[in-house]
Amino acid sequence: MHAFVAGHPINHSKSPLIHGTWLKRHGIDGSYRAVDVAPEDFAAFIERLKEPSAEFVGGNITIPHKERAFALADDVDETADYIGAANTLWREDGRLKATNTDAYGFAANLDEKSAGWHKLETAVVYGAGGASRAVIVALVERGFRNIHVLNRTVERAKGLADRFGATVQAHPLEALDELLQDVGLFVNTTSLGLEDDAVPEIDFTRMRPSALVTDIVYVPLKTAFLQQAEAQGVATADGLGMLLHQAVPGFEKWFGVRPVVDRELREIVEAAMGVR
Ligand code: ATR
Repeated sequence: MHAFVAGHPINHSKSPLIHGTWLKRHGIDGSYRAVDVAPEDFAAFIERLKEPSAEFVGGNITIPHKERAFALADDVDETADYIGAANTLWREDGRLKATNTDAYGFAANLDEKSAGWHKLETAVVYGAGGASRAVIVALVERGFRNIHVLNRTVERAKGLADRFGATVQAHPLEALDELLQDVGLFVNTTSLGLEDDAVPEIDFTRMRPSALVTDIVYVPLKTAFLQQAEAQGVATADGLGMLLHQAVPGFEKWFGVRPVVDRELREIVEAAMGVR
């Protein structure tokens, strides 16, 4: 059995290491490898995958192909439909099925690091791109009552508010200070802080006493958002666990074993990232 992760570029993906670790752990005679698929080749790649003789039983889809994968799959489940993008594909009954495990990965990471986080009930989500949609789906599924989405391009945040209904409200970035007052959860979903981008100074102490600050960016592990929160004595959860947990459902579909995210896996991935 062979599975893949397809993206463009793909050389920095940690997914082969994650799945390779699990394949070894469970003694499965299978493989998982990275495939660089340029945008103009993606439709043909999916067509080949649909053939019964295809080399792969399924795989992961990453940037920039998640929306196309969603559009080209034969069947999409409710979660992928809600997010409007797919990151996990598999063949079943002669059809190419698609789901999106990012919302699951986000929630499972916080379940592991901060049990009871769903009781925070109100959230500020920074950013309104593809990753933000998955985070919002997770928050809605976990019963959050108020989700404030802030974005540089406020129209994009408004698009999400329209899509998800009254629970989700759109704001410009300038509203951040005011919105943080007594809020429970802060999530960064933007690429800010990935490079040398200036991350704004944020007063996380305005949040409620049990507040949690998390970031879906995991390179660096301690992003500028998390560093600020930590320095202010506010609880934080880094985003690496989301990457690890989102991989679980795919592995189970392709290889028939539900793997676990544990300290050993995290240490292997951290070592490869050079943070240990
Ligand atoms: P992804 O799928 O990873 O979420 P994306 O759809 O390109 O990627 O979204 C990137 C997010 O980061 C967006 O919210 C983007 O804001 P815009 O919609 O206004 O572009 C945000 N972002 C990226 N660079 C930013 C910057 N320098 N300042 C503020 N927000 C930024």
